[in-house]
Amino acid sequence: MSTHRQLKRTTVPDIRAMKGATPIVGLTAYTSLTAVLLDDQADLLLVGDSLGMVLYGLDSTLAVTLDMMIAHGQAVMRGSTKTCVIVDMPFGSYQESPEAAFRAASRVMKEVGCAGIKLEGGEEMAETIRFLTRRGIPVLAHVGLLPQSVNTAGGFRSHGKAGGEADSILADAVAVAAAGAFAMVVEGTVEPLARRITETVPVPTIGIGASPHCDGQILVTEDMTGLFSDFTPKHVKRYANLGEGIRQAAVEYAADVRAGRFPGPEHCFGVKPD
Ligand code: KIV
Repeated sequence: MSTHRQLKRTTVPDIRAMKGATPIVGLTAYTSLTAVLLDDQADLLLVGDSLGMVLYGLDSTLAVTLDMMIAHGQAVMRGSTKTCVIVDMPFGSYQESPEAAFRAASRVMKEVGCAGIKLEGGEEMAETIRFLTRRGIPVLAHVGLLPQSVNTAGGFRSHGKAGGEADSILADAVAVAAAGAFAMVVEGTVEPLARRITETVPVPTIGIGASPHCDGQILVTEDMTGLFSDFTPKHVKRYANLGEGIRQAAVEYAADVRAGRFPGPEHCFGVKPD
């Protein structure tokens, strides 16, 4: 018999049950250190493929690999005990066929031990979502602005202003929910569309740049803490200025080292007091 005490993490059904009851707090996490800091506050930690841009300095998320997502997913699991951890499927790992998606997603589930995976896409991904969920893999869907489709979309812009586009994104949301997604990220959509989606689908909507009319919100942690300060998108509220704090700490450290002020006697071993 195992003596290992099972810690109770927020589960996918817990997140599903939050629709209309209590707002879902989502944040991204890519490292164990960040997961430790966020575990008490976030209902859901997403190991987003945004790590390609935020951590690795890539121009888009397209070059992120399954191995990168697995390594970062494992780190986030090691740093958390309470929150529901979801890992993004990177570009190229799931679009080809439901079977290919299952092979990649089952690797993530086995090697990371997370609660589920996220993938981007609407009606065109419904068959794959159905295939995965019927085989035991919880799926967080992602509709609206799809960063992995940046090349076909021609850049990042808000979606759903035109009626035709809004209707098609709503149809995407309805399709992924019907296919079994337990919740969906709604990214970069105008407020009336986010409201229509949230009122229409039976599963939680988690907005990013999609107005308050969602069942929860998610932000990239490095954006909202001011660590990633190349630019601040309109949808981001800055809750801290950690980037500037780190830069200032480095300025002071460099000055101390150059002036011989660091290390002081209190930082040294075997120094006899005068
Ligand atoms: O990759 C990511 O971080 C995401 C969030 C922006 C939702 O998909």
